[in-house]
Amino acid sequence: MAVTAEAESPAARFLEQPKRMLVDGDWVEARNGSTFEVFDPALGEVIAHVPGGDAEDVDLAVAAARRAFEDSEWSRMTASDRGRVIWRIGDVILEHADELAEIESIDNGKPVGIARVADVELAADMFHYMAGFATKIYGQTFPISVLYAPGAQFHAYTLKEPIGVVGQIIPWNFPLLMAAWKVCPALATGCTIVLKPAEQTPLSAIRLGELTQEAGLPDGVLNIVTGLGETAGAAVAAHPGVDKVAFTGSTEVGKLIVQAASNDLKRVTLELGGKSPNVVFADADLETAIPGAANAIFFNHGQCCCAGSRLYIEQKIYDEVLQGVSDHAGKIKLGRGLDPDTEMGPLVSAEQLDRVKGFLDSGEREGVRTVTGGKQVGDRGYFVAPTVLDGASPGNKVYDEEIFGPVVTTLPFKDVSEVGAAANETIYGLAAGIWTNDLTKAHRLIPQLRAGTVWVNTYNIFDAALPFGGYKQSGWGREMGEEAIHEYTETKSVCIGL
Ligand code: NAI
Ligand code: MG
Repeated sequence: MAVTAEAESPAARFLEQPKRMLVDGDWVEARNGSTFEVFDPALGEVIAHVPGGDAEDVDLAVAAARRAFEDSEWSRMTASDRGRVIWRIGDVILEHADELAEIESIDNGKPVGIARVADVELAADMFHYMAGFATKIYGQTFPISVLYAPGAQFHAYTLKEPIGVVGQIIPWNFPLLMAAWKVCPALATGCTIVLKPAEQTPLSAIRLGELTQEAGLPDGVLNIVTGLGETAGAAVAAHPGVDKVAFTGSTEVGKLIVQAASNDLKRVTLELGGKSPNVVFADADLETAIPGAANAIFFNHGQCCCAGSRLYIEQKIYDEVLQGVSDHAGKIKLGRGLDPDTEMGPLVSAEQLDRVKGFLDSGEREGVRTVTGGKQVGDRGYFVAPTVLDGASPGNKVYDEEIFGPVVTTLPFKDVSEVGAAANETIYGLAAGIWTNDLTKAHRLIPQLRAGTVWVNTYNIFDAALPFGGYKQSGWGREMGEEAIHEYTETKSVCIGL
């Protein structure tokens, strides 16, 4: 097997080992005995074979999670001890940060240095942040009046209880970080988990499973079923033993999750697609706005749900910003993620490459002007040149639909109200960016934007404390921050007659 990590590195040793999935603390093969191939997208070569779990494995994993939730060391653990275990997982991730970054870079394609800071360290921080919540989940007391029971007295309060067994289905763009966003609040509340990583990038989740064992997470609390979306993923979403499903991925599959969950009305949170507007006003500091607008779309090769993929530039600086962003795009160094000089890696898969090329072709057919990029690069791996498209507007596929690649469309605008309306011209509502030195202008535009996050004079800033999620068809609910804790608890009202 082609082992592509630095020879003898911990990541190389991990890649050499046979891959299993984690059910009830045991590393097992799929019951059906199948495996699927995992690729290094920079080389287009197979780097691992991973169990092709399906409904039968999901059944076993859900049963293990149920036992762990109802009657186990985990269910009897104090909140303080639970917090300590979660904190330790964060520590163990940091102890293995270089290894995890290398695994992520090889599996997903992203530059290893970026994987180190943007994926691994943020994932560890999520464990550390959510560890503190384990001891801070509590209800309230209420001075109730009960008008129809004059003279009676009551003691009324709420309990915040864990939802139970949660199914978590995650994508391939930030594999370890998305696992952390999902797993951490579930653990903090005392839930148990069946995690289904993306079939393109299951490796860091498998390593995370090993590290949670090293940190002392009891058996059955985190189960990891690797497999395809249509089989393993669909089984998680439909399973009657799953109390809640949390999903990140395409809006199309998000709707399938809702349908599957409607059978038993399980709780659902969704973090879906985006087509986020990024607005540059003429009074902005262009020395930061131009590279900022480029980073907004090209970070992670455009494979971000919140990518600033529709760039609106005030008319009088249109040519300057268009040129600046295009120049920036043209200088980005493409390469294999493990090469320290690489600034942008390949797309994650051959399928994603085809999808992005399909968008580029449709732009060309519809007469949208390519300022820079617009094509595949090299004949090995799945590389696409950072691309700037000028003048696409509603009705053009490249303007209307999420591309999920390094492709930005640009349009000029005249004033705040025009750009506010244009920015909302989408079924999505995940994020938006504003670049201006005029506070009034920014504050006029912020409430107009139907988006879950607005960045001003910055973009792609994430923190464990700051809720993230979408308006409209970008999703339901929020991840991170205290809001994520509420997504994993039920509220029980208790009323005692005195
Ligand atoms: P996808 O939505 O099919 O996959 C995401 C996850 O859902 C994976 O774990 C997959 O195995 C699982 N899945 C797929 N079909 C399922 C089903 N029927 N039931 C349950 N789980 C299922 O996304 P895909 O095909 O990888 O990418 C397609 C497009 O989706 C991208 O081009 C992009 O536009 C969007 N996307 C958005 C993401 C985000 O962060 N919001 C992440 C990944 C993709
Ligand atoms: Mg899909």
